[in-house]
Amino acid sequence: MDIKTVGVVGAGMMGSEIALVFALAGADVVLADKGAEALERARSKLAGVLEKGVAKGAYDQAAADETLARLTFTEDLQTFADRDLVIEAVFEDEGVKADLYRRLEPVLPADCLIASNTSSISISVLASHWPEARRARFMGLHFFSPVSRMKLVEVIPGFDTDPEALARARAACEAAGKVAVPVKDVVGFAVNRLLMAFFIEANKLVEEGVATPEDIDTACRLGLGHPVGPFKLLDEVSNPLALQVMEILHEAYGPRFQPPLLMKQMVGAGRHGRKAGRGWYDYREES
Ligand SMILES: NC(=O)c1ccc[n+]([C@@H]2O[C@H](COP(=O)([O-])OP(=O)(O)OC[C@H]3O[C@@H](n4cnc5c(N)ncnc54)[C@H](O)[C@@H]3O)[C@@H](O)[C@H]2O)c1
Repeated sequence: MDIKTVGVVGAGMMGSEIALVFALAGADVVLADKGAEALERARSKLAGVLEKGVAKGAYDQAAADETLARLTFTEDLQTFADRDLVIEAVFEDEGVKADLYRRLEPVLPADCLIASNTSSISISVLASHWPEARRARFMGLHFFSPVSRMKLVEVIPGFDTDPEALARARAACEAAGKVAVPVKDVVGFAVNRLLMAFFIEANKLVEEGVATPEDIDTACRLGLGHPVGPFKLLDEVSNPLALQVMEILHEAYGPRFQPPLLMKQMVGAGRHGRKAGRGWYDYREES
């Protein structure tokens, strides 16, 4: 891998595992967050993922130990001064991201590749928060959850992204075991547009009484070869997050992404999904 040093900001659900996949591929990785608690949570989560990897025979204990040793957990952005590639995975809020970019800018090397893992904010809009000179090396790298298992990364250029910078970032993702698909900078990129259309149609089938959520999930697993059906997946993603994405797509593309009434009722009723104990399925026995 031509990229030897990687920095990830945001040690939450996405950032922690993005850091892990690059460390597994042999890069020296710094993972930053704004609180010691978030960093400790990330460290113990990643130790758990590595433990599972060893148990499954994906790598041996020595490789897992070396991977953990290649990861530095820090609150100090000054440690980003020698990074080849920096990936931002902080909250999905343009203001929060812009503020972080302002603090990173004086620290990063001039030729550093910079990416955002945003799901819904335009890459060209985010690029505007960097000085002109940085915009050629700024792009979207949209990973999927859980990053340690999902192989896809959508690679998204902004207006000013240099194709050579995009190709280098893409190669780094591929060296880390990902499969990159280039996608234009449109709302929802490609996969979330497809997924939300699928969720909306599944809701309509239930609203119309065509089939139950359980039967639709069975049909999609056995008829389409999906590993889980749309309602099980909604419970994993969380219904409020899916509804929020539908609303963003509705605003961008109009009626074809209008959130179904049933989704709104589910969210309003607190049936948020697996973590909440109830969603389309009942998980209360599990907790
Ligand atoms: N959750 C998903 O399935 C998913 C999928 C693809 C992309 N994304 C995108 O990835 C990004 C992160 O999402 P997530 O689900 O991991 O969120 P998360 O809430 O789990 O994690 C965000 C982390 O960023 C940290 N953070 C916030 N502001 C910070 C700052 N200024 N400096 C340092 N750390 C800061 C928080 O403390 C938190 O640990 C978002 O842009 C989201 O849209 C999410």
